Amino acid sequence: MVFVLSGPNLGRLGTREPEVYGSDTLEDIHDAVEREARDLGLVADCRQTNHEGELIDWLHEAVDVGADVVLNPGAFTHYSYAVRDACAIVTTSGRSLVEVHLSNPAAREEFRHTSVVAGVATGTVAGFGLQSYLLALRALV
Ligand code: DQA
Repeated sequence: MVFVLSGPNLGRLGTREPEVYGSDTLEDIHDAVEREARDLGLVADCRQTNHEGELIDWLHEAVDVGADVVLNPGAFTHYSYAVRDACAIVTTSGRSLVEVHLSNPAAREEFRHTSVVAGVATGTVAGFGLQSYLLALRALV
């Protein structure tokens, strides 16, 4: 089982800054993720939330059910030590967690150059739009 979790504002993909994030909606991404997961012999549980606590609860749930995680933390990436600590619970429990971004934060505003999650993630995929999520699934297998 793989939890594919997306954080704040990602439910607005398609119309949110399409010049940065492209025209795919989150539903398009979830459809593609479910197809890719099936091809790889995985089962994906795709979710999105705008709420930090809910995201943290889902990361705890991943540990409890023994799921790996593909996580796009959205802006939480840059400042949420609570999300970082929850990611650390996942990876120190022996599960993998791949941080993903549609855009390449390193090529954007200064505040996006820091990821507080990266240091506790298994790895990071950024800059490939919808493909970032699919590459993360491949990395897990
Ligand atoms: C993002 C990059 C973040 O900086 C931003 O806050 C997002 C989306 C991405 O997927 O490129 O919400 O995580």
